[in-house]
Amino acid sequence: AWGGPGVPYARWVTSVTVRVPAKVNLQLGVGPLRDDGYHDLVNVFCAVSLFDEVTAAPADDLAVTVQAAPDAQVAIGGVPVDGDNLAVRAARLVADRLGVRPLVSLAIRKAIPVAGGMAGGSADAAAALVACARLWDDPAAPKLDLDALLALGAELGSDVPFALLGGVAVGLGRGERLTPVPAGGTFHWVFATADGGLSTPAVYAECDRLRAAQGEETPWPAESPELMAALAAGDARALGAALTNDLQPAAIMLRPSLRRTVDTGRDLGALGALVSGSGPTCAFLAADEQHAADLAAALAAADVAASVVRAHGPVPGATIL
Ligand code: C5P
Repeated sequence: AWGGPGVPYARWVTSVTVRVPAKVNLQLGVGPLRDDGYHDLVNVFCAVSLFDEVTAAPADDLAVTVQAAPDAQVAIGGVPVDGDNLAVRAARLVADRLGVRPLVSLAIRKAIPVAGGMAGGSADAAAALVACARLWDDPAAPKLDLDALLALGAELGSDVPFALLGGVAVGLGRGERLTPVPAGGTFHWVFATADGGLSTPAVYAECDRLRAAQGEETPWPAESPELMAALAAGDARALGAALTNDLQPAAIMLRPSLRRTVDTGRDLGALGALVSGSGPTCAFLAADEQHAADLAAALAAADVAASVVRAHGPVPGATIL
């Protein structure tokens, strides 16, 4: 029997599907390198309406499949389909924690760019945590509540806890110590994807290298008051002016074509233009939905991206459908 005593959910459900958003970093302040190989961050996350879906179904074994979502131009070639897959690792972690066997098939439908700086892998891990916790829910045993899932998520990756929460949040530490922040409105974004991902560790390492070459001490990052005020007010123009990403110089150094993509979006009237997280996706803030549509069309015509997609945020985190 699944999960021991009681009547586990998996006995009478055929599958659980969870929808999970991508993120864009409104501020990514990178502090000095720590002894554990991570950097202390001030990371202001915003969840945006570009969603992956993960369906978990009882199976004889632990297995994963990955496909692009209908209409999404996502190159899924870079996603591992073995034990390295973050969703598979999430399923194992939940099974260990609940004392059940990880007999589940995970079907991932991706609309979030792979290795794109939008936390797509972390999103899939978060979705798998929620889906497996539900699948193996045993009415006779204590539930895995949100706090338990957030702790499991932090074991899997720095951005996984945020994918569970969604909305807007400030992440300190590695980015996993989250404080939700209310936003005063919805913001409209255009994202320019690139062919081929960037490795997050490589971008952080390049950031360290650039800083060492400058020979200055890395300042401790601080939350931007202008950014927080713009968020609270729902003021897209002020938010656009306050967007910052300390990883951007490193991402551009590793992928010089990103400079032209960012500059083109700004020239075409984006209120803010920057590399998303560790890249190579670039993010452009628009004034409203119509402006986002116009900007997306102009960016697509400018031929500076593999694909151009629109999304709005904040949106909720991982949600069972
Ligand atoms: O935690 P996660 O596995 O998502 O991080 C991937 C890599 O990104 C880390 O191994 C590290 O090289 C880098 N990283 C960092 N500082 C952080 C978060 C991530 O240096 N706060």
